Amino acid sequence: MPYFKWDEADLALKIPQIDRQHRSLIDTMNRIFDLNEGKAERAEIEQTIMLLRYLMTEHFRDEEAYMASIKFPRLDIHKTIHKQLRLRLEDYIEIYRQGDGVVSREFFQFLQVWLTSHIMGVDKEFSLAQPLSETAGARYRRI
Ligand SMILES: [Fe+2]
Ligand SMILES: [Fe+2]
Repeated sequence: MPYFKWDEADLALKIPQIDRQHRSLIDTMNRIFDLNEGKAERAEIEQTIMLLRYLMTEHFRDEEAYMASIKFPRLDIHKTIHKQLRLRLEDYIEIYRQGDGVVSREFFQFLQVWLTSHIMGVDKEFSLAQPLSETAGARYRRI
């Protein structure tokens, strides 16, 4: 049973590109959790954390582009929240680097909050917003 669970009913926004990215973020979080549980080499854990950071950056950029394409009115607030999440991830990465090679419980709690309150809460807001024109958001066709 994975530690971070993808629940289609709660997490799927029905925007394929965004859902794909959310899934791969969750897969990567689980990989960090499993490596940590299995007492994997520090280099491997760090590499996977760096992958999460890369996927997060890419995802936030794409999600912000999607929100801009549908002229989502709360884009600026959402961008600020993304920025805070990015900074907090940087903090946890720094703490990990200075620590003993074990990922802290706080790090996983942070990831869990990102998953549950951000994806299920904040991201859901824009997924419910309708594109203002036929062409806006077409690249991200809803299903
Ligand atoms: Fe997201
Ligand atoms: Fe978001």
